[in-house]
Amino acid sequence: MLIAQITDLHIGVDGDIGAKDNYKRLQKTLETLENLHPRPDLVLATGDLTETGSIDAYRLLKRMFEATPFEIWPCLGNHDRRYPFRKIFSSHLFDGDHVRYAVDAGDMRIVVVDTLSEGAHGGSFSSEQAEWLDDLLAQSDRPTIIAQHHPPAYTGIAWMTAHADDPWVTRFRDVVSKHSHVKKIIAGHIHRQMERPFAGASLVVSGATAAQLNLDLSPMDPQHHDGRPLVVNEPPAFTLHFWDGEEVVSHRGVVGNFDTLLDYNASMQSKMVDVYKVKAE
Ligand SMILES: [Fe+2]
Ligand SMILES: [Fe+2]
Repeated sequence: MLIAQITDLHIGVDGDIGAKDNYKRLQKTLETLENLHPRPDLVLATGDLTETGSIDAYRLLKRMFEATPFEIWPCLGNHDRRYPFRKIFSSHLFDGDHVRYAVDAGDMRIVVVDTLSEGAHGGSFSSEQAEWLDDLLAQSDRPTIIAQHHPPAYTGIAWMTAHADDPWVTRFRDVVSKHSHVKKIIAGHIHRQMERPFAGASLVVSGATAAQLNLDLSPMDPQHHDGRPLVVNEPPAFTLHFWDGEEVVSHRGVVGNFDTLLDYNASMQSKMVDVYKVKAE
């Protein structure tokens, strides 16, 4: 079971910031996923599906998803809006007001959490959601990936990060730390690949299909703008996750045409024979 994660698609229509670029970047990412060997079994899109949450943008995104061979499971991010999303995508993904659900994926279970608070930039996770997640996680001890938009931890990117003592973060961490079968939390929002330990599991943030944030971990002075680059034209990115029988293994993928520097030729074949012999011994 190979799970591809795409995030921060920011699909827009005429007049939306980055509409053309974000469309092309997502298109190329989906083509890259289609050409992978083996091809992913399912795709998770971890929020900021659209730039402004308009019905037209969701309609365009749905057409793009339907043109792929993939089952694509969405989460909502801070650029999304529930009502237009619901109009275009299935209302089956909703539990009350939230887009939250569980999907079985081979040996694993994926639990999608809704961290959107409409109108706010940062994440949210209420005590009602905490109770929901706690109950859901208690129902099965299969290795579990939690997928959501906002990373529930300090990330070091000053203008985008949550903090360890944010009430929603504390609430989320308290639930996750009770369930040792939660192996990984996967998220987006910061438009850059990163990872860190979290509540006995690990947190992996995927790079965006839209533009990436500049890698700059220095503090920011809210009283003084220093002209630093914030968003940069790095290639689209995605992440592949699979279960190796003990852990969730995550690989970063970058979208682009890259030169081959070494191929699997006859001289490499003899080395491969040695490697497999050692393994057998
Ligand atoms: Fe985003
Ligand atoms: Fe976001």
